[in-house]
Amino acid sequence: MRLTVYGGRRLFGEVAVDGAKNAALPLLAATVLTDDEVILENVPDVGDVRTMIALLESVGKRVQALEPDVYRIRPERELTSTPPDSLVRKLRASFLLLGPLMVRRGVSHLPLPGGCPIGVRPVDLHLKGLKALGAQIESQGGFWCASAAQLHPAEIHLDYPSVGATEQIMMTAALIPGRTVISNPAQDPEVHDLARLLIKMGAGIMIEPGRLHIEGTTRLQGTTHTVIPDRINAGTFLIAGAIAGGDITVRRCQPLHLEALLSKLDELGITVQEHVESVRVVSDGPGSFCGGRIEARPYPGFPTDLQPQMMALLSVARGSSVIKETVWESRFAHAAELARMGAQIRLEGSTAFLEGVMRLSGTHVSVNDVRAGAALTLAGLVAEGVTVIVDRDEHIRRGHRDLAGELNRLGAAIIEETSEEKEVVSSEVR
Ligand code: UD1
Repeated sequence: MRLTVYGGRRLFGEVAVDGAKNAALPLLAATVLTDDEVILENVPDVGDVRTMIALLESVGKRVQALEPDVYRIRPERELTSTPPDSLVRKLRASFLLLGPLMVRRGVSHLPLPGGCPIGVRPVDLHLKGLKALGAQIESQGGFWCASAAQLHPAEIHLDYPSVGATEQIMMTAALIPGRTVISNPAQDPEVHDLARLLIKMGAGIMIEPGRLHIEGTTRLQGTTHTVIPDRINAGTFLIAGAIAGGDITVRRCQPLHLEALLSKLDELGITVQEHVESVRVVSDGPGSFCGGRIEARPYPGFPTDLQPQMMALLSVARGSSVIKETVWESRFAHAAELARMGAQIRLEGSTAFLEGVMRLSGTHVSVNDVRAGAALTLAGLVAEGVTVIVDRDEHIRRGHRDLAGELNRLGAAIIEETSEEKEVVSSEVR
């Protein structure tokens, strides 16, 4: 995919946010825990979700779209325990199937998962949790094999509040009778959304600060559940409004989930108004807000998935800024691309030092991760001339249904070409 961004247009109007990809992925994975029908609503039509749906189908589920964002998931045949390599390697979240398939089938095999190249991405905490629940884990030729030797509830301390490991343990423990306790779990809204689904399916889950209690059962039932709004996409649009200048309202979002971003935008001098399910941002664009300090940390800290977009914003802030990334050690590839557009960025390990410039200039840049793609698109909005964003592996589509189209509806001028070089020019581009 290739995006050609014509810079210099302000954004005005409203944009509604889809369901959260990072909530939908574990919710879809959790459907293997039951043979009953599960209906998921507000499921975003993005690449990673399509991959997870294909994975479910590959292990024996029938996934039927009742509406574009509503899926019915029910068994088509007996569950299998070995999803195909080619699909697993496309998506890190595919590893979430290891525990649920094991607890249903007695055994599961998964190759090491894929995903964006933003760090080493180990799975030790997932494995530690499953072992504590009595699983036997072996690695054989690039595959992880989990067998349900003697499963039992457990008290598990996570050295780091890993989102995936917390979700893996929750799902597995939900089908192990008795009380499992995770201390230092991830507290992200997407983890809590999974807890809500598991409760509807019949597990007992209690969340308290620093601890998560799971009361497992022998059988989980079907239910209907609505995916929470995507806070990362909501944040991306808010940062788009802030960087480009203008007046936009992001609807169908949960301002509570965006507190770290909203307070940071406010601190930088950008006008932010919170309503019940929407946020309005008003900005005069580059140079109208000041620089600041961001530290990407586990929730409720500043989200790492908004760090690249924030780097684009701070590139055109007044004065200097510091961005520290504590979650993914290699999540600065976008810095080199922003520098090619004229941003002044110096990297020292996991810290980036920025000196704001008044203007960026359009050039050719390339994308290696979904959020970096969003960041470069936002930078293109304020670059002089034309920015061409080359996204060979369709990273942007993994997390955004139609980023260019939505920005165009707000007044941006972005032309999107698919890999087949077929131009999809939004009617709003004039
Ligand atoms: C999820 C999100 C991703 C986001 C990340 C952090 C999904 C599908 N993806 O990823 O967009 O950037 O949370 O908010 O929800 N780690 C270990 N051992 C493990 C697991 C993780 O050391 O077993 C480390 C990772 O290398 C990384 C950090 O923990 O440095 C965060 O990982 P984790 O919270 O597990 O992120 P994901 O669930 O993979």
